Amino acid sequence: MSSQFKTIQYQLNEQGIAILLMDIPGSNANVMGDAFRDELDLAVNLIASDDNIKGAVIGSVKNDFMAGGDLNAMVEMFANVTDPQAALDIANSIKPTLRKLECCSKPIVAAINGPAMGGGLELALACHGRVVSDSAKVIMGLPEVTLGLMPGAGGSQRLPRMIGIQKALEIMLQGRPFNAAKALELGIVDAIVAPEKLIEAACQQITDGLDPIKPWDKKGYTIPGGSGFFDADLGNLYNYLTSTICRDTQRNTPAPLALLTAVARGTAVPFDAGLHIESCYFAKLILDPTARNMVRTLFVSKGELDKLSRRPKGIDKASFQTIGVIGSGLMGGGIAQSAAKAGIDVVLLDISDEQASKGKDAIAKSFGKLIAKGRMQQEKADALLAKITPSADYSKLASCQLVVEAVFEDVALKQMVFKMAREHMPADAILASNTSSLPISQIGEGLPSPDRFLGLHFFSPVERMPLIEVIRGKFTSDKTLAEALDFVALLRKTPIIVNDSRGFFTSRVISAYLQEAFAMVAEGISPTLIDNIAKQAGFAIGPLALIDDIGLENGYKASLAEKQALGERWVEPAGFKVQKQFNELGRIGRRGGMGFYDYSEGVRAPSAAVAKLYPASASAVDAEQIKQRLLYVQALEAARCYEEGVITDAAEADVGVILGIGFPSYTGGVFSLIDTLNCGEFVAALDALTETVGERFRASDWLRSRAEVGIQFYA
Ligand code: NAI
Repeated sequence: MSSQFKTIQYQLNEQGIAILLMDIPGSNANVMGDAFRDELDLAVNLIASDDNIKGAVIGSVKNDFMAGGDLNAMVEMFANVTDPQAALDIANSIKPTLRKLECCSKPIVAAINGPAMGGGLELALACHGRVVSDSAKVIMGLPEVTLGLMPGAGGSQRLPRMIGIQKALEIMLQGRPFNAAKALELGIVDAIVAPEKLIEAACQQITDGLDPIKPWDKKGYTIPGGSGFFDADLGNLYNYLTSTICRDTQRNTPAPLALLTAVARGTAVPFDAGLHIESCYFAKLILDPTARNMVRTLFVSKGELDKLSRRPKGIDKASFQTIGVIGSGLMGGGIAQSAAKAGIDVVLLDISDEQASKGKDAIAKSFGKLIAKGRMQQEKADALLAKITPSADYSKLASCQLVVEAVFEDVALKQMVFKMAREHMPADAILASNTSSLPISQIGEGLPSPDRFLGLHFFSPVERMPLIEVIRGKFTSDKTLAEALDFVALLRKTPIIVNDSRGFFTSRVISAYLQEAFAMVAEGISPTLIDNIAKQAGFAIGPLALIDDIGLENGYKASLAEKQALGERWVEPAGFKVQKQFNELGRIGRRGGMGFYDYSEGVRAPSAAVAKLYPASASAVDAEQIKQRLLYVQALEAARCYEEGVITDAAEADVGVILGIGFPSYTGGVFSLIDTLNCGEFVAALDALTETVGERFRASDWLRSRAEVGIQFYA
């Protein structure tokens, strides 16, 4: 019997219960693909038709129950679908099988041993009972909306019918995973049992007489908390959620509204009609490029980078017990903290013992805040702090396999600290700079073993930012790159690899964006208007509020350093005059109490002084053009980086801009944006901007020729 299954291990136990253990071949996680669906369908037929079978348990051989749909396959599938009927067919592909399972009149129990996400949880929801392992590894959730999708295997209809519309919407709209205890509290699962008793407990549910008919398949069933459009509380909920979704997404991503509508409409009608409504909205999302772009960048490409897909082959994996961090300021402190969290001991160096201790104290203070909020235990904080040794003594680096430098942004200073570090460190230790803009090869000049030198560009705040830009210098060896990637993986961050250039990749792209916003200020467009339009374009925060929060000085220093380094070749950035003027006026941002806005007791307010410096322009503001300028200036700079070989992979760049510098995620990143528009239209838009805004938008011959031939960044 079992031989006919390739994705499921099938056994009939002595109680007459069929045990189906999912084991999708060729993958660490169970994912729901066509082969599994077909075999599940077969198994359900078998269970339903054999009088000797009392019921079934669905479990998993792997560490997870089921990770969800096969998103890799979906990206390809979505890219090739343009026809609504084909999209509806995809949206309907698993539903009949799950409905058959639900209506087969034999009780079926999900035995959830590990993560049950997306389609995995939807499969469990279609079962008649659910028991869960008492294990910290168990997480559950319907996170589809965070990838521009919605539950499409009946989840949007079953969950509200089980736990009520409001709670179900909360779970699905936030997309955040929850643990077994929460699932029990919500009524999503029936019991939590010891891992070794899981299958036994699931069988027990069946022998105890689990009802094989779902409540919503019985006459007169009403959803807990009500349903339909005549309930005032639900009406308020739908109105409230519609307006918050529109505020938060600016309608850039259709998924949350599609989900909300499918739930509202689908729960107002009988269950099977509800499933059809879910499919219709899911199909709409399939036809929208947003879902494909988001899934590709945020799941597929990020997943590959997390698995170190670009790590040079054939080099042994490196381990790191102790590292050094030079400079205990904002970035150095964050790097030390992240390393300690990864179980690595850290020597935290600064110019004096006192200064280094100050750096460690700042980390302790940030832990204190987490403890006060109940998000960290004192013992955990103490254990992490014990891993960090503050010092001014470079000889302490003798035991370090890697050092990251995060001193002030100054080539000579960085060269000096590396020289001192090298004198004390093992000859084959890796030296890494956290510079955000200085050319790596220049910092590494004159160092012994330049092959062991590279850039590891962290983002602020380091503890929360998931990206590290790994910069390969002129002399960086494959071994160094591979081992540095092992370090990034230990920190559980996502690496992108870029080649050396002033500003590398992400800093170049974000500088172009900020400079464009400065230029708009000079044109008499108010900072509030620029920032509001940026939010409409999908940025979480406007560029001017952002630079006020970061502070204007470092960017200005970087512009000046670039000017000095490039001499005659320097091209003045679009907003340089504003940048210079604001720095000279001391309008350095929130920290100085004023920048593009004024700050009083931390509250941001429009600045009369800035309005006086740059009175509103008499010409009407073209919001669409401002949006284009803010988005396209970044896409164009990224394309220049691609042309110059600073980046070599569109997928990597797309992950970099979303995770590193807050490019709107609904676009899928800069190159997804260009491809979705198609390169020809992008170049046409650039031509129009060159005409009306300035030469900086001129497309290169390289980009133009790609547009003419119709070459996409994604094959
Ligand atoms: P910071 O000013 O907060 O910290 C710099 C630290 O370096 C200070 O504690 C200072 O005492 C120490 N230092 C100076 N000279 C030293 C020496 N000779 N030996 C040991 N320590 C010394 O600066 P921040 O913001 O942490 O930036 C550090 C580096 O990280 C810079 O290169 C910056 O460009 C880069 N970076 C900064 C980001 C940010 O958002 N602040 C983001 C990414 C990179």
